[in-house]
Amino acid sequence: MPADTSGTPVSAVPDASEGDINLSQRRQAWQGAHLDEATRTLLAEDARWFFHQSMSTPCLNALQAAEGSWLTDLAGRRILDFHGNSLHQVGYGHPQVMQAMQEALATLPFSPRRYTHPAAIELAQRLCQAAPMPEAKLLFAPGGTAAIGMALKLARLVTGRHKTVSMWDAFHGASLDAISIGGEAVFRRGIGPLLPGTEHCPPCDPRGCVFGCAGQCALRCADYVEYVLRKEGDVAAVVVETVRCTDVQIPPQEYYQRLRRACDRHGALLILDEIPIALGRTGQLFAVEHYGIEPDMVVLGKGLGGGSMPLAALIARARFDVGPHISLGHYTHEKNPVACAAGLAVLDVIREEGLLERSRRLGAQALERLRRGCSVLPAVGEVRGLGLLLGIELVDTVGRSAADLAEEVLYRCLSAGLSFKIGQGHVLVLAPPLNVAEADLDWALDLLLKELGEAALP
Ligand SMILES: Cc1ncc(COP(=O)(O)O)c(C=O)c1O
Repeated sequence: MPADTSGTPVSAVPDASEGDINLSQRRQAWQGAHLDEATRTLLAEDARWFFHQSMSTPCLNALQAAEGSWLTDLAGRRILDFHGNSLHQVGYGHPQVMQAMQEALATLPFSPRRYTHPAAIELAQRLCQAAPMPEAKLLFAPGGTAAIGMALKLARLVTGRHKTVSMWDAFHGASLDAISIGGEAVFRRGIGPLLPGTEHCPPCDPRGCVFGCAGQCALRCADYVEYVLRKEGDVAAVVVETVRCTDVQIPPQEYYQRLRRACDRHGALLILDEIPIALGRTGQLFAVEHYGIEPDMVVLGKGLGGGSMPLAALIARARFDVGPHISLGHYTHEKNPVACAAGLAVLDVIREEGLLERSRRLGAQALERLRRGCSVLPAVGEVRGLGLLLGIELVDTVGRSAADLAEEVLYRCLSAGLSFKIGQGHVLVLAPPLNVAEADLDWALDLLLKELGEAALP
């Protein structure tokens, strides 16, 4: 068994945090019952060639198609996808996105360094003009983690400081710089020294508050961030997921007012990670719009590439344009024309299909319905949501852990054709495409409530 730097054996079973565990017995049992020979063979080949890692290979199943809100597995089974790695705000293969990508592929499949092109400039302009700060500029990157790395470098450059304050339990990507500010053991443990100066604070998690808020948020967590900023005195940036996607943590309004004031008082920048939740997931283009503050930087990604292309963006105050002498990103696919075309089509689809309003409306209805359906279940601690990001937090009951129940509900739903994410091991997280058919959403909520009700029976 491997050991971490302190010599402690590292468990072979990973922590439940970002997603569901891919080594569990229940997963194996599900595969035994549901996979045909051809799929098993393919999964064995996948496991043969890919390094095994938590939440990835070995995989659950193999796919042949994805369209709209639906996946089709190799055996032809259809799966309504409320997981989607949080990148399918406009669904898979949206015709407008596909057409835009195909046109770009046919004319300008790549734009080498030294050159720019109209789609990159238009996408940059539209994002900066929509950004939650008055004057913005941006950089693109081929993924969220890379964009977070650029944000950290820019914060150092702008402030002349290197320290950060970020949150335990947070996820900002899997690279060494991102896991240094991230707060999940499954990414950090046993990896060795991380970036220096990366302080961590408890996140705003009213139900599980380490300061004992017990659901009555007293915002001591925000005050503690300020305490650390004051004690350190030279922190470059506070980095936060505006709304934590993994287990649907929605801080109260005042939390961000306090963080903003604390950052201003102590000369730290406020960097918001909205990689999975921008572009309408919470009912606004940027989740920070719910909070009425201006961040110094905001990072988005995932759905920006239309559910197909890897594309992320660091958007920051225009006055931070202070690094012409160094490279902040320098990524080969920085201004990939196919990705930029997809990004422009995503913005068009969100506007033309009214997806922000739809996310708010369908999300509020779904939240109400889930709250009603779960109100009689002692195993449900809380149902929360913002837009079409919904979380059902399960709690331990006599003789049954919340994590065990969460897993059972997941595999029951997968058997019936509904996929979603489990966050922190015990939160059922639903993130449907914002243009999901209402009938599909209804079917999914009915199914989930039925399976949860049956699984939670004593
Ligand atoms: C909040 C958050 N930050 C950063 C990332 C990393 O993004 P990427 O996987 O595109 O590098 C993710 C991905 O899940 C995320 O959810």
